[in-house]
Amino acid sequence: MRHLIDPMDLSVEEIDELLDLADDIIAAPDKYANACARKKLATLFFEPSTRTRLSFEAAMMELGGNVLGFSSADSSSAAKGESVADTVKVVSCYADIIAMRHPKEGAPCLAAMKSDAPIINAGDGGHNHPTQTLTDILTIRREKGRLTDLTIGCCGDLKFGRTVHSLIKAMSRYANIHFIMISPEELEIPDYLRQEVFEQGGLPYEQVRTLDEAIDRLDVLYMTRVQRERFFNEADYIRLKDTYILNMKKLKHAKKDLSILHPLPRVNEISVEVDDDPRACYFRQALNGKYIRMALILKMLEEAGKVTI
Ligand code: NCD
Repeated sequence: MRHLIDPMDLSVEEIDELLDLADDIIAAPDKYANACARKKLATLFFEPSTRTRLSFEAAMMELGGNVLGFSSADSSSAAKGESVADTVKVVSCYADIIAMRHPKEGAPCLAAMKSDAPIINAGDGGHNHPTQTLTDILTIRREKGRLTDLTIGCCGDLKFGRTVHSLIKAMSRYANIHFIMISPEELEIPDYLRQEVFEQGGLPYEQVRTLDEAIDRLDVLYMTRVQRERFFNEADYIRLKDTYILNMKKLKHAKKDLSILHPLPRVNEISVEVDDDPRACYFRQALNGKYIRMALILKMLEEAGKVTI
């Protein structure tokens, strides 16, 4: 059985197919309104979420399916000490497909070994977030019309931000992508990614400390929140949290067709005055998240022999 744990579990061709399907769903949603009738998606969220959980649930509803699940570890048997493996084993008796978020890196991978239903990793600690990456890639393709020949700036918490980790892995497979990593020294990308993706993978990248050093060269700016919940001490968080604040003044030297993405939630890193600028894509990106999850649920259920597209 296929699961989606890491963005690299999908080939470039499979990602292209998902993007095409999402585009078709956007163009003709009625065609898919009953595609998952009588099927159930379970959302097991051991960590808080607004967009990811609700977009998964909305996606399944728009496919004519049903949803069940929990939105915090406190309201599940995890609070009684049940293991992730047992929870998933049981839930896979009730649901056709499972989306799971967990604060521990690797938890969805372990769950996949025990599950009788396909597992989708909806975020594991500071590690991966493949469905956010599909959302981001769909957004880049819809906004820019291409996934090649792009200079992409990733700004903020590149150490703990799982969305950046998954995005750079996935984008490393497209032609002529140049990354500019914008972060304080303490929040640089983890060494394993630097080595595996950039150095061994031969992907060109640069590291800078300020937005001003990069902004005029970017086609895509991917802003991120400083991940408070993954810090070891509050003092470090407070010192680093407002390092980058994108505002209209900072955007003065940016390209006219820059696309500004953010997985959301935003704290202070993008000033609300930017929201009205046509280059701000983050709310369109959140909507794309529902459509790409519809495409993903459909494809995974089709592969599991549970629906036909
Ligand atoms: C992200 C996450 O959970 O990693 N949010 C999301 O899924 N859209 C980003 C974040 O929490 O900062």
